[in-house]
Amino acid sequence: PKVAVLMGGPSVEREVSLVSGRECAAALRGEGFDVVELDAGQDLPEHLARHAPDVVFNALHGRWGEDGCVQGLLEWLRLPYTHSGVLASALAMDKTRSKEAYRAAGLPVVESRLACRDEVQARHVIAPPYVVKPNNEGSSVGIHIVHEAANSPPRLDPDMPETVMVEAFAPGRELTVTVMGTRALTVTDILTEGWYDYDAKYLPGGSRHVVPAEVPAALFDACMEYALRAHVALGCRGLSRTDFRWDEARGLDGLVLLETNTQPGMTPTSLSPEQAAQCGMSFGALCRWIVEDASC
Ligand code: DAL
Ligand code: MG
Repeated sequence: PKVAVLMGGPSVEREVSLVSGRECAAALRGEGFDVVELDAGQDLPEHLARHAPDVVFNALHGRWGEDGCVQGLLEWLRLPYTHSGVLASALAMDKTRSKEAYRAAGLPVVESRLACRDEVQARHVIAPPYVVKPNNEGSSVGIHIVHEAANSPPRLDPDMPETVMVEAFAPGRELTVTVMGTRALTVTDILTEGWYDYDAKYLPGGSRHVVPAEVPAALFDACMEYALRAHVALGCRGLSRTDFRWDEARGLDGLVLLETNTQPGMTPTSLSPEQAAQCGMSFGALCRWIVEDASC
């Protein structure tokens, strides 16, 4: 079958997506697929019409590619595509609405609220320490941490959206779990010096991953179960990855869900391919599974 790998696109995670896309395209060729690589610009519909793929492999990250927009286009074109559909993508990309879905499913989340930029810059919307994030971007882009001792509200980047999320700072370890269909793979503990920011995510050696995480068995199992429940609560399909924060001092009560990524990174430093490898699945086999799981 002919597979079109969508990558790049206009989001702030463009560069990450180009790496994910090239890796997946190469792996799929290795698996014997006929692969065409498409940088997803506004002429995407014409490219899709010209290449007429059997399946679209979505390797986009961030807005337009991970938030239901491209999924809507592919539904409209009746082209089978990988990963989550329109609604799950839109819900997962909206950090506030996804929390509402988690809460309804009985999953633990951190207190947060939506606020407009002016309000956030005028006063502390919630008591410090807290984090100000775009409500709908990934890869830690645009995150602003307001420390406990901060007596003035933050100055936000001019390119932050008009409405942002203000979230109580959840201290502790960063854990993550990939779900493939109905199966949670394993738990990774992400060790960084300081914040798990963009550089820590994508520069080689920027962070160290302990996989499987060396955490108490009950906590490990809770992460696995919560990731699966989050995947189901949002209505995800195929691959997803749910990120957690764990405040060790508070035991099981210290575990909270941060977000579910419906287009997990597929770069050489990314977490999901590493978890698949830990479960005995090569990168090529993972990409093949993703293609075979595609639908519309
Ligand atoms: N947003 C990046 C690609 C990730 O979650 O892996
Ligand atoms: Mg993310």
